[in-house]
Amino acid sequence: MSTIINGLDLEMIEKAGNAIREGDLVIFPTETVYGIGANGLDEEAVKNVFRAKGRASDNPLILHVGNFEMIDMVCKNINSTEKRLIDTFFPGPLTVVLEKSDLVPDAVSGGLSTVGIRMPNNEIARSLINFSGVPIAAPSANISGKPSGTCVSDIDNSLKDNVSFVIDGGSTLVGLESTVVRVVSGVVNILRPGKISLEDFIDVGFDAVYDENIFNDVKFNDKVMSPGMKYKHYAPDVKCLLIYSEDNDKFISKVHEFESNYNILVVCREENFNKFKNAISMGSSLEEISHNIFHILRELDKANYDLVIIEGVKKKGLGVAIMNRLIRACSYNYIYIKK
Ligand code: TXA
Ligand code: MG
Repeated sequence: MSTIINGLDLEMIEKAGNAIREGDLVIFPTETVYGIGANGLDEEAVKNVFRAKGRASDNPLILHVGNFEMIDMVCKNINSTEKRLIDTFFPGPLTVVLEKSDLVPDAVSGGLSTVGIRMPNNEIARSLINFSGVPIAAPSANISGKPSGTCVSDIDNSLKDNVSFVIDGGSTLVGLESTVVRVVSGVVNILRPGKISLEDFIDVGFDAVYDENIFNDVKFNDKVMSPGMKYKHYAPDVKCLLIYSEDNDKFISKVHEFESNYNILVVCREENFNKFKNAISMGSSLEEISHNIFHILRELDKANYDLVIIEGVKKKGLGVAIMNRLIRACSYNYIYIKK
C-alpha cells in the first residue's frame, strides 16, 4: 500500500525523499508527465522500476537532478554546446544525453556509455530529488507500451502497488514527455520531440535537426540513437487511425466517409467537435492538445467503437511532438490528404 501525498507538502515530501534514498520507489509529478522514480545510484532499486513497468532492460532511464552540482556527479566531459543547453533550458522539459560517470549503474543507462539528464521545472519534483540527495532515475509512470500518466487517476494500480509514496500534484502542465537531445559534432539532434521544439533551439542560436527516425516505424534490430524509438508506445486497445489535411473541409469529408460505414469515434480539435456524430474535443491550441492527449488516449479504451479517428496537427513547433505520439498511438495508420 502506498501513502498519498497531496501537493507541495514538504514534510511528507522529505519522507518520500528519504524512502527514495533507502531504495523505495515513489510516483511523483513533473511539468511533463508523472514519473516512477528510484535512487539512480542504487542498481537494485532501479531494477525494481524496470520490473514494475515491464520495461525492456536495454531502454535506458533518465536521471533527474535537483541542482547543477548533481550533473557533475553523474556526467563527465561536458562540451561547450552541452553546457550551453543546460544553462539555457534547465530547469525545464529537456533531457540532454551526456557521457556518464562511473557512478551511474549500467541498469540506468541500459548498458550505454551515456545517460539522459533532466532537471524538472516542477517544485514538487525538485524538492523530492533534493530531499533524497541523489539523482532520481525515473521513466514515465505507465506500464510499458501505454500512454504516460498525466494525472494520478490515470496511473495504473499495479504501478501504485510497487511504490511507497504517490505524490499528487494535479494534472501535469505540458502533458507530453520531455524533448530528448544529443549533441553530435556541435549539432543538437532531437531524438524525441517535446515541448521544446526545433525552432526553440534555433531561436537561441543552436544548430539543431530532428533525428531521421522520429516519424518512422523503427524495427527491433535497426540501429537507432535512442532505444526508446524501437518500442511500441502510447497505443490504446481500440484500432486508431490518424488523419490530417491542411484543408479542413477535406479532413471533414474524409471522416464522413468512414462515418457512413463504421461505428466510429472522432478525436478532433474543438473547432470540428460539432461536425461528427460521436466526437471528443482535444482542445484548440497545440498547448491544450498536448496537455489533454494522453488522458484522452486512456479514455479510448473504455469506449466501444470499431475505429477511432484522430485528427492530426501541422508538424511544426509543438505539433511535431504531438504528431510523433499520435502516429505511434495509431500504430502508423496515417492518412495525409494534400491541400
Ligand atoms: O518528461 C520526461 O522525460 C518523463 C518525466 C518523468 O521526466 N520521463 C520519461 O522517461 O519520459 P521515459 O523513460 O519514459 O523515456 C525516456 C526516453 C526513452 O525513449 C529512452 O530511450 C530515452 O529517453 N533515453 C534515455 N537515456 C538515453 C540515452 N542515454 N541515449 C538515448 N536515449 C535515451
Ligand atoms: Mg515513457
